[in-house]
Amino acid sequence: MKTVLVLNGPNLNLLGTREPAVYGAQTLADVEALCLTACATHGLVLDFRQSNHEGVLIDAIQEAGRAQAAGTLAGVVLNAGAYTHTSVAIMDAIKGAGVTLIELHISNVHAREAFRHHSYISPVAKAVMAGFGIKGYALAIAGLAELTQPG
Ligand code: DQA
Repeated sequence: MKTVLVLNGPNLNLLGTREPAVYGAQTLADVEALCLTACATHGLVLDFRQSNHEGVLIDAIQEAGRAQAAGTLAGVVLNAGAYTHTSVAIMDAIKGAGVTLIELHISNVHAREAFRHHSYISPVAKAVMAGFGIKGYALAIAGLAELTQPG
């Protein structure tokens, strides 16, 4: 069974209390439970992580690239939080690692402030998911399963 890395960036550890009108009332632990169910449904193993630190996210993306090359990883679901809109380094890491990655946002970033409309990640992502709330994580895992085990 292949692994899916679900990687969460800055401030996503605050889910549940952070701007609930935008991000909902559920916590990151709830997101992890939902991802676990989605992975089980699709015969995948979950590796779920969160970091507020750009370099830690980059290390995880590079590690994922090596795991995918070795045949043990199906891909990555990345919610890079605000780094989406600022980080050339994360974009370079995704490109350099050659990893299959789905960009995810809980909110519809295009319906929000103009500075959230640009993503450094979209050009190097396989697909983009935004605006489905935390259910987007399960949809992204299903999409990754479809990409790697079609049919
Ligand atoms: C987010 C959207 C980003 O603009 C924001 O900085 C976040 C969360 C989302 O999941 O909707 O931290 O990625």
